Amino acid sequence: MNEKNGNCDIGLIGLGVMGRNFVLNLGDHGFSVIGYDKDAKRVSALENEADSARVRGARSLKEFLDNIRKPRAVMMLVPAGAPVDSVIDELSASLDEGDVVIDGGNSHFTDTNLHLSALQKRGITLLGVGISGGESGARRGPSIMPGGAKEAYERVRPLFEAASAHVDGDPCVAYLGKGSAGHYVKMVHNGIEYALMQMIAESYDVLKRGLGLDDDELHRLYDEWNRAELDSFLMEITAKIFLKSDPKSNQRLVDVILDEARQKGTGKWTSQDAMELQSPAFSIHAAVAMRDMSSLKDEREDGESMLSGPDRSIPGDREETIRQLRDALYFGMVTAYAQGFSQLAQASGEYGYDLNLPDIARIWRGGCIIRAGVLENIRAAFAEKPGLANLMIDARFSAELLRRQESIRRIVAAAAMHGIPLHALSSALAYFDSYRSGWLPVNLVQAQRDYFGAHSYERVDAKGTFHTQWDRLDLEHEA
Ligand code: 6PG
Repeated sequence: MNEKNGNCDIGLIGLGVMGRNFVLNLGDHGFSVIGYDKDAKRVSALENEADSARVRGARSLKEFLDNIRKPRAVMMLVPAGAPVDSVIDELSASLDEGDVVIDGGNSHFTDTNLHLSALQKRGITLLGVGISGGESGARRGPSIMPGGAKEAYERVRPLFEAASAHVDGDPCVAYLGKGSAGHYVKMVHNGIEYALMQMIAESYDVLKRGLGLDDDELHRLYDEWNRAELDSFLMEITAKIFLKSDPKSNQRLVDVILDEARQKGTGKWTSQDAMELQSPAFSIHAAVAMRDMSSLKDEREDGESMLSGPDRSIPGDREETIRQLRDALYFGMVTAYAQGFSQLAQASGEYGYDLNLPDIARIWRGGCIIRAGVLENIRAAFAEKPGLANLMIDARFSAELLRRQESIRRIVAAAAMHGIPLHALSSALAYFDSYRSGWLPVNLVQAQRDYFGAHSYERVDAKGTFHTQWDRLDLEHEA
């Protein structure tokens, strides 16, 4: 590659850890890259870490832009919201027609739509690209979720295919669809991430408070679970977390971490948009709500002393409860993916993304936070039956769920009886039970709506909408 002025393959703005690592990753794969950040210290950090002349830093936007081959490909990895807005404003004023801007952050998909039309007016194309895998993914191979104009994607495709994670030689990147499709898919990825993390946390609660396992036992158990059907990145790191010591307290670090979970917003956005689309994402909502509940630390501490309940230890056969919990976690995991994919299918139609669900499952098999062994079967399920309404009714998965339903029922019941909150796992079971329920009690809700608001209802035995004078009916009954 030639690194002379004007010849870099791509430029990257935003040299935080993610940005710096992605630049180095591209450099490792033979691409010439120039990085720029307003903070000169970050530019120096990149230069110090780069061990190839293909990677260089720029000290001004002009130097940066002058060193990218035209038409330029400029990628940004800056925090979503105002920072992305301001970089886009700046680029829109300095780039030329035909250039491509790649937003590689977690921008809200509606912002991406706005950015896209603003840049389009100047003849500049925007690709909204979700990137998952954290710091090490950015360095060693993330899962990349690009959306926007297909022709623009084709220009950067070789770079993304080289830099992404690979599973059996297959790159974890695929063009996902028009407009904000890439950022939408990444958002739902994060919603599933929230649900899975919450379910794992709930299993930890059952094991710790319910069964009294210590950190070494927890490590061994999650490690064992990660070697079979629960095999996933989140299980792997969970097992490792229990071994980490804290030099300050001489305890395991996990035990001195405050139980208030923060959030940058992507899980909440998934939940909000699921509501918008009326896609029932039970466990994603539950996971967001539990993060919110966790932040009420003082209130919870008061609540603990004022609202007494049962002893949290779960009696009975410990090994059997652990076996059931493993099944319950797998059941929860499958339903979390089912909810996410269902939302994606709905968004695909609603927003015109025309998403390819097998491709999404395929590129989530490696590099990203929700990578898991089960994704290969999810890919196969959607590939074999395009239009599959829900993962839970794929023959493979329905058999797996049916086999485990007894276990999750027992776990949810035991936790309820002993005061351990399993919001995500119990909502996974409710999702399953309501999906397999040809009748739901909302005929009564319809009657209530019509009673107090004349909102009308439909009947099971005739077409059309109906309204009843409910008070008069009461009188008739009384008469
Ligand atoms: C990823 C992660 C990444 C980030 C989350 C954290 O896929 O690499 O999802 O995007 O770690 O945004 O989200 P919260 O701060 O909301 O937990």
